[in-house]
Amino acid sequence: MNLALIGYGKMGQMVEQLATARGHKITFKVDIEGNEQGQALTRENLAGADVAVNFSTPDSVVLAIDKVSAAGVSMIVGTTGWTSRLEEVRRMINERNVGLVYGSNFSIGVNLFFRLAQQAAEIFHEYAEYDPWIYEIHHRAKLDAPSGTALKLELIVEKEYADRKVVPASNRAGAHPGEHTLGFDSDADTLRITHTARSRVGFAIGALRAAEWVRGKKGLYEFGETLEK
Ligand SMILES: NC(=O)c1ccc[n+]([C@@H]2O[C@H](COP(=O)([O-])OP(=O)(O)OC[C@H]3O[C@@H](n4cnc5c(N)ncnc54)[C@H](OP(=O)(O)O)[C@@H]3O)[C@@H](O)[C@H]2O)c1
Repeated sequence: MNLALIGYGKMGQMVEQLATARGHKITFKVDIEGNEQGQALTRENLAGADVAVNFSTPDSVVLAIDKVSAAGVSMIVGTTGWTSRLEEVRRMINERNVGLVYGSNFSIGVNLFFRLAQQAAEIFHEYAEYDPWIYEIHHRAKLDAPSGTALKLELIVEKEYADRKVVPASNRAGAHPGEHTLGFDSDADTLRITHTARSRVGFAIGALRAAEWVRGKKGLYEFGETLEK
């Protein structure tokens, strides 16, 4: 496929490296310079791209979605910290007749963890002596906290524990690529389910799989939907 990269930081560069190895071609890439107001996301620059992959910043991403969908190009959005505007984006994508896959975490392991989290919440909710908790840690440069993944875990757990808030705790330190824990604690013991990312490779491969999946599809999809068997 021909891919456009919007955001050429840690993730954008990793996607480029792996895309080339999978036989895809990068036809356009842009970082903040020259695209402060989305001005580089024109039909001309995006012509020839099958899918645009966005790993940028929470404050630039919705404008990028607007511009790229207006140019008729489908999109993979790995950027986090913007889902309070999800309904606005859904309307945009439906009107423009393109496809978009978004996700707080493109690692396959985390998406299977989401399924485990739902089952764990269902089981532990039956036992009042256990309280659920959520914790995450990421590298010092991550802009949003809690992470999108932790917020998704919160949603999953609170669906079961409708009677309480389970607010995630976050740390930002060093170079950590990301760790999330869902725990249940009682007077007697603690149970933890932890996902630890070993590197950014898993996120980039997930983004490329989603790009291959969305080609030719219309509408808004969450990354987990691309993995359904
Ligand atoms: N879904 C997932 O699996 C997943 C995995 C990892 C990360 N993420 C998310 O992906 C995003 C990027 O992460 P990262 O680690 O790659 O961050 P990063 O290294 O800081 O890269 C972000 C890049 O976006 C660029 N940018 C800022 N405004 C822009 C604009 N208007 N147009 C184009 N590019 C712009 C920045 O340029 P400058 O540096 O020049 O300002 C920077 O190079 C974050 O939201 C992070 O939480 C998601």
